[in-house]
Amino acid sequence: MTEPRKIIIDTDPGQDDAAAIMLALGSPAEIEVLGITTVAGNVPVALTSRNARIVCELCNRRDVKVFAGADKPISRPLVTAEHVHGKTGLDGPVVEEPTMPLQAQHAVDFIIETLLSEPTGTVTLCTLGALTNVAMALNKAPEIAARVRELVMMGGGFFEGGNITPAAEFNIYVDPDAAEIVFKSGIPIVMMPLDVTHRVLTYKARVEKIKAIGSPAAVAMAEMLEFFERFDIEKYGTDGGPLHDPTVIAYLIRPELFTGRDCNVEIETKSELTVGMTVVDWWQVTKRKHNAKVMRFIDDQGFFDLLTERLARL
Ligand code: RIB
Ligand code: CA
Repeated sequence: MTEPRKIIIDTDPGQDDAAAIMLALGSPAEIEVLGITTVAGNVPVALTSRNARIVCELCNRRDVKVFAGADKPISRPLVTAEHVHGKTGLDGPVVEEPTMPLQAQHAVDFIIETLLSEPTGTVTLCTLGALTNVAMALNKAPEIAARVRELVMMGGGFFEGGNITPAAEFNIYVDPDAAEIVFKSGIPIVMMPLDVTHRVLTYKARVEKIKAIGSPAAVAMAEMLEFFERFDIEKYGTDGGPLHDPTVIAYLIRPELFTGRDCNVEIETKSELTVGMTVVDWWQVTKRKHNAKVMRFIDDQGFFDLLTERLARL
């Protein structure tokens, strides 16, 4: 029996972030959540910090430490996505305001302190939002780059294009400068782009299966998905919307659900037309160094079977 994998979840909840947090907390044999760090993205950081604690309380995990992080990107104005996630960022279910405390330490300092105190190569960073906190930690303590086991991130897109602009996916678009720092850091990266997450659709039958679990966490999750998917159903005309963030956690538990390859990825930070684009050299047409394992395909039914099974354990 291997030890559970130690992770920090960096997140901007967001209903799909909530699904990722629940999947992680529902998998204690495989995953030990050292802490949750919040970042501005889908909604401002005060709300992402509220929402992260609401999700922990829905899972009866008031013990999880939640640290508030960056309230804006490194050098650009904040862009948010209330049009997708609602004004609270967690619209859908009726929820109680959280009563568990927010940690006093800043998220960036928690990331640095944890990476410097845990044995090198044992902590995985799971980023579900803009990469601002991780980039700020790298700027403040560059020595942490060599200590990260892996950074598994939801972000970017290549053949699938963008979702906030024709070229850019939201998490990268919010803070392209941070993404550039992270992709140039040398940290081993696993990238979950829209090419994967657009194949992970919240079909009605899948949401009904989650709701049928009947627990407060599962019912709230189903109601979040019913709210969250309305925007994407309208936009893509599909049955259900793409469930982006929990693919990051699913990769840690069942990597065999995914296929991809080592590639070079660079970030567009200059052009106003394509800023935030992840330029993925999938066909290896350049000699640029591989800096990410880029996922392209997923067994989406296997993913939902895992998600549903783990939500039922909460
Ligand atoms: O583009 C999708 C990503 O942006 C997801 O992480 C969603 O939660 C938002 O942060
Ligand atoms: Ca997110």
